[in-house]
Amino acid sequence: MNAALMKRLFRAISDGSQEDLHKMAKVIIEDEMKKGHGGLAKELNGLLKEKPRSSMEPKNLPLQPSTAPSNLSVLPRSRRYEQPLYSNIPSDQLEHNMILPPAVEERFRRIEQEYAARERLALYGLLPRKKILLYGPPGCGKTMGAQRLAWNTGLEFYKVRFDAIVSSYLGETAANLRAIFEAVAQTPCLLLIDECDSIAKSRQSSQEVGEIKRIVNSFLQLLDDYDAPGLLVCATNLDSELDTAIWRRFDDILEVPKPGQEEINKLIETTLAAVKTQGLNWEQLLKATNDYSAAQIVRGCRNAMKSVVLAGQETVTNGVLLQAIQESGEKA
Ligand SMILES: Nc1ncnc2c1ncn2[C@@H]1O[C@H](COP(=O)(O)OP(=O)(O)OP(=O)(O)O)[C@@H](O)[C@H]1O
Ligand SMILES: [Mg+2]
Repeated sequence: MNAALMKRLFRAISDGSQEDLHKMAKVIIEDEMKKGHGGLAKELNGLLKEKPRSSMEPKNLPLQPSTAPSNLSVLPRSRRYEQPLYSNIPSDQLEHNMILPPAVEERFRRIEQEYAARERLALYGLLPRKKILLYGPPGCGKTMGAQRLAWNTGLEFYKVRFDAIVSSYLGETAANLRAIFEAVAQTPCLLLIDECDSIAKSRQSSQEVGEIKRIVNSFLQLLDDYDAPGLLVCATNLDSELDTAIWRRFDDILEVPKPGQEEINKLIETTLAAVKTQGLNWEQLLKATNDYSAAQIVRGCRNAMKSVVLAGQETVTNGVLLQAIQESGEKA
């Protein structure tokens, strides 16, 4: 870099002017281009287009959710009943502090990293993973996983409302689905189709009449054509009922499993973080939570905290926690 360029760069840094810094970066890219360093110029250009991170932000921490108001201000409504076809969870209400086995956490991160680097990937003709299927036992974080993806990518979160889209009128469910896909094609957002088994049931199932086959066919077509700027997440705990043709249409399929011992430990510690604990017997606790879902563990811990608070105390003891955890397992 020549002296004049360096001085301009330092002036822009000390003024804190984003605009000047951006111009300087462009000059540097052109400079590299002229020197015949096309690869480097391309890479720098890609970096420039990425969402800027604060220099204080550690690399692995989630990006802040976008606070920008949604562009989907007019949600499509069901033709017959005028109900919105999907609902929105505001960014600040997204549940995102997930506890997962490292291998599963890594796969969630990969989706988030690819989305963040989508423009850089595009320079090489590559696409980020956009169509994601989450499957696994109830209460282990499929719905929460979709919220966490929205939080970490900064995308607005929308969830399909089955009560509004499913219609007994011929062809209307498929038309409602199409309306949703058309709406999300216009704006970057994360669309969650939760419990997607209800629209993706196997076409082979003998109990299902022609309409479900039409719905599955149209869902397959919509999945094929999905090229929206955001993410599409489908979730199910009835993976065996999904039509086989659905599976291969996703870019990534993640199993969200029941927590192992490490995860149970962390779930208990983080849920109880707001109170004091005394004499926790981990061997007993791990035995009592064997085969539990994350939801059952979180519920048990919260109930233990409530009983302590109601009793005017501050400390959760092993006995109180064990009893609450056993009760939360019975309700499953
Ligand atoms: N991996 C996790 N880490 C932390 N908390 C979790 C996790 N999984 C579930 N929870 C807790 O359990 C609650 C229920 O989880 P969630 O709704 O995501 O389960 P699900 O897999 O979608 O279940 P279902 O199949 O019944 O829809 C969450 O709101 C959260 O409090
Ligand atoms: Mg769910």
